[in-house]
Amino acid sequence: MLSEDFIYRLRESNDIVSAFGMYVTLKKRGRTHVCNCPFHSEKTPSCTVFPDTQSFYCFGCGAGGDVITFTMKMENLGYMEAVRLLAQRCGMELPAQNPDESRNAKRRVRCLEINRESANFFYKQLVSGNDKRGLNYFAERKLSPAIVKKYGLGYAPDDWHVLRDHLRQMGYRDEEMVTAGVCQQSDNGNVYDNFRNRVIFPIVDLRGNVIGFGGRVLDDSKPKYLNTGKSPVFDKGRNLFSMNFAKNAASTTMILAEGYMDVIAIHQAGFENVVATLGTAITADQARLISQYAKEVVIAYDSDGAGQAATQKAMNHFSAVGLPTRILKMEGAKDPDEFIKRYGTEQFRILIDHAGDALNFRLDKCRDGLDLQTEIGKTELLRRSVRILAEISNPLEREVYISRTAKELDIRVETLQMQVDHAVKRTERDTKKSKFRAIEAQSLQRDEINPLAQQFPKESRAEEQILCYLMRFPEEYRMLWEALSPTYFVTDFHRRVYEAICQMMPDYAHFSLSLLAEKFNVEEMGRITKIYVRGREISVDRDTLEECIAVLKDTKKRVQPSQDMSDDDLLQFIAQKKNHQSK
Ligand code: UTP
Ligand code: MN
Repeated sequence: MLSEDFIYRLRESNDIVSAFGMYVTLKKRGRTHVCNCPFHSEKTPSCTVFPDTQSFYCFGCGAGGDVITFTMKMENLGYMEAVRLLAQRCGMELPAQNPDESRNAKRRVRCLEINRESANFFYKQLVSGNDKRGLNYFAERKLSPAIVKKYGLGYAPDDWHVLRDHLRQMGYRDEEMVTAGVCQQSDNGNVYDNFRNRVIFPIVDLRGNVIGFGGRVLDDSKPKYLNTGKSPVFDKGRNLFSMNFAKNAASTTMILAEGYMDVIAIHQAGFENVVATLGTAITADQARLISQYAKEVVIAYDSDGAGQAATQKAMNHFSAVGLPTRILKMEGAKDPDEFIKRYGTEQFRILIDHAGDALNFRLDKCRDGLDLQTEIGKTELLRRSVRILAEISNPLEREVYISRTAKELDIRVETLQMQVDHAVKRTERDTKKSKFRAIEAQSLQRDEINPLAQQFPKESRAEEQILCYLMRFPEEYRMLWEALSPTYFVTDFHRRVYEAICQMMPDYAHFSLSLLAEKFNVEEMGRITKIYVRGREISVDRDTLEECIAVLKDTKKRVQPSQDMSDDDLLQFIAQKKNHQSK
């Protein structure tokens, strides 16, 4: 366990407001700061950062904690890894750690080393190996040597063991190569190269680490691309290809393309603000990541059916994070790569500048599959258009689109207006209903963190207030502990928090959330922060505390003596505590 002193200094040197500022834009609101929550999709900010307690809490999704919890969630790290990253940021030396955590951290470091070494190996094979097929391939696809170098593109020769043997020579073990995803193990235990006879696209994270690879065949064989699977350093749903370059681009627009080759072609054409997903549809996490770096997105997916369907899905994700979307309409080419090759950079720029907004895209799509020569076709088109127009929340904007659509459908503006007004009213009614239903559903939902809270609402509330008091006046822990043994707690989760705080108080002079971050997972930290934040708002006084204690004692009297904690458990707990104090 890390010392209080160390945690204290780490927190002092990593101000939570600055830590947030590295990922999101904070707005000052009184003594706090707010932002769109980086952990769930929202359009109005409900994530609050409290500089005075160095904590954060999202009133929308319940995420919360201190700077360590924040870093764990944001960077997808374990507790010690987050501590290490924060220590690194402020130049602090880490004290010796427990073997489990350092083993995990070492595994990640080895993974990153193997990836970097493999990327170097593939690059050397490409530019100076005997086999020139990879280099020829990129030349054929019109990539300049400069862009090949910038992206560190590579070539994996047609061989089962070259990379493995090379990595062995560098001192890496077979199972480490398998973990990193550059090698695989066959059923009979043989370890062989995963990427063979393919050109290689290294995937680099925001900090410049090589975290994985995409590999493309040189011909038409299948599968066209092979991608690194899940590894300790790679999660395809949380990273974006070329984000390491795009994040520094001057533009506030982000271009989202479908494939590696499109990204590189677009980048080569002078647009560095371009990214792609890693062989999957875009996720909410990725949309959120983009929204942290851009003010609008231009979706430049393939012009085929699959690309257009994917565009629809992507639009929904961006709409959920409040990011305006425009859609590139490409004619005469199947994807941006082909378009640029065929028509040149300038034409592509025009395409970007004139990309229509998401609404026009959807209004256009209404015509799909309809025969507009027939009455049925026309009516259906009208019906579909009305539904979309009714979704426009800004009345002015709605009017503009209504008059334009009326012209296109060749009907009177007033007629369309009336239809849309009707639909708007209907939607409003529906949203109210569904909001109500959502609230109902929420109250029926199981509380995963503290399952007993719903069964014992009164006791659970009393426990919360007691915890509020304890966090507010931690120096009174001894009085509390004597007045209320943890066995009186009805819910396990609150009891664990109570025990944890009381246990650490003899050692630690001041209470801080950071002291709990090691013992509770990030979801639990969110809940603890909620109690903490509420406690600072309502400030539980001594009388209330007495009442709450009475509630718990009263319950204990009525209910059979607890089975929650057996005598053995209790003895063990006391022994633990004594141990702790005498240390
Ligand atoms: P595309 O088939 O459009 O490929 O797939 P591309 O990137 O345009 O490549 P070229 O121009 O044919 O060389 C788009 C993306 O989908 C993923 C890859 O990330 C690819 O870049 N993909 C595609 C796979 O992961 N596996 C596949 O087999 C095919
Ligand atoms: Mn392509």
